[in-house]
Amino acid sequence: MSRSKGYNPRDRFFLKAKEENFAARSVYKLQEIDQRFKIISSGQTVLDLGCSPGSWSQYASQKVGNRGRVLGVDLSPVTVKLENAVFIEADLRDLKLEEVFQSHGFQPPFDVVISDMAPKTTGIKNTDQARSLELCELAVDVAQRFLKPGGHFVCKFFHSNDFAGLRKQLQANYKKVEIVKPESTRTMSKEIFFVGISKK
Ligand SMILES: C[S@@+](CC[C@H](N)C(=O)[O-])C[C@H]1O[C@@H](n2cnc3c(N)ncnc32)[C@H](O)[C@@H]1O
Repeated sequence: MSRSKGYNPRDRFFLKAKEENFAARSVYKLQEIDQRFKIISSGQTVLDLGCSPGSWSQYASQKVGNRGRVLGVDLSPVTVKLENAVFIEADLRDLKLEEVFQSHGFQPPFDVVISDMAPKTTGIKNTDQARSLELCELAVDVAQRFLKPGGHFVCKFFHSNDFAGLRKQLQANYKKVEIVKPESTRTMSKEIFFVGISKK
């Protein structure tokens, strides 16, 4: 992400996350989406793609409570400890998810699939957008395979010309598709979130 004059790494969301013991300020993006669309409920199973350092999983873990479970996957480790969550350190592109589910006692389909996956940005617009699209398509595919009918899907995307095509694809798969730019997303950021409500 390019940093403009107004960029403040220790903004109010950063400070709030520290105060509330969340691993990252990104938690407030998922919280806003969940408060608007009621994505996650008690007792559910949540698959969190690109989960490190762990704030979305922390939020999901609290929402699903002790009758629910969260499975997170990321290239980087997660150090937060959550009773009802399991974290896998791996590249989602290479992972045999069925084997992971089996070895950790998860029985798909999941109630919710969330993806905050993002590539390491290079500052080269076309490269960053192409890598974001690849991760977004991967998340869409995982949700097609492992999200239950009626389940909800959240996916980060760096805005590009591929936006309309992706939205169309999601509209074919979900009863409703919302596009969100959360309040806590930095103003100069190109990220938006697709929210697929109720898988067909
Ligand atoms: C913005 S961070 C996620 C923050 C997280 N939602 C949280 O709240 O703590 C994006 C993550 O996507 C992960 N990621 C990118 N490509 C990935 C891949 N191919 N497989 C798994 N994780 C990936 C990165 O390692 C990074 O940790």
